[in-house]
Amino acid sequence: MARAACEHVDPRSPQIIVELGAGTGAITEVACRRMHPRSRLIAVEIDPIFAQVLASRCPRAEVLNCDVRDLESHLERLGIDKIDLLLNGLPTPSLPREVNQIVLECFAKYANGAYFSQLTVMPWIYKPMYRRIFEQVTFSLVPANLPPGGVYHCRGLRSDFLGRIPGKNGKPGPNGRHCENGNGHA
Ligand SMILES: C[S@@+](CC[C@H](N)C(=O)[O-])C[C@H]1O[C@@H](n2cnc3c(N)ncnc32)[C@H](O)[C@@H]1O
Repeated sequence: MARAACEHVDPRSPQIIVELGAGTGAITEVACRRMHPRSRLIAVEIDPIFAQVLASRCPRAEVLNCDVRDLESHLERLGIDKIDLLLNGLPTPSLPREVNQIVLECFAKYANGAYFSQLTVMPWIYKPMYRRIFEQVTFSLVPANLPPGGVYHCRGLRSDFLGRIPGKNGKPGPNGRHCENGNGHA
């Protein structure tokens, strides 16, 4: 699964890679091994214990123990104005819609044209959902994962993606943002 997630990590040229929901670093470790020596990998994880494991397991990663809602302010602090690859381990379909809106707006601002590689343990089910958001979506099946899973490699945000944000309805997040748009939940 980690190798499939890292398909667009380029060993030959430097990239700015951002991983969301990096957990204890199974994907991060493979990405760090594969990436170019001058690449940067920013790994975001909200759980402080997971973030600690992640930092000691992946010393090459820049670990942010924070909510993905605060990603943009951290990118500014780190002097990052462009993302070359986004690895997404967040459970996108079951997150509040306002969190997905923040992630996709951040992707539009910093990474449009880059790959958005999304992990799943429900093969194919959400392909229509990602097709509503991105022009190009391919799926790499990983049958040997327990449970069987795979990775959606998505590219080219649709111009009307804001009306197609997936996720659950929820209360406004801590920064007061809330998306009233459409029902993209699959
Ligand atoms: C499905 S797990 C990914 C596991 C990871 N790939 C690994 O190998 O350990 C999703 C992760 O997203 C994190 N997460 C969930 N909501 C988050 C948020 N709002 N901001 C940052 N991380 C979040 C969870 O704590 C969890 O570690």
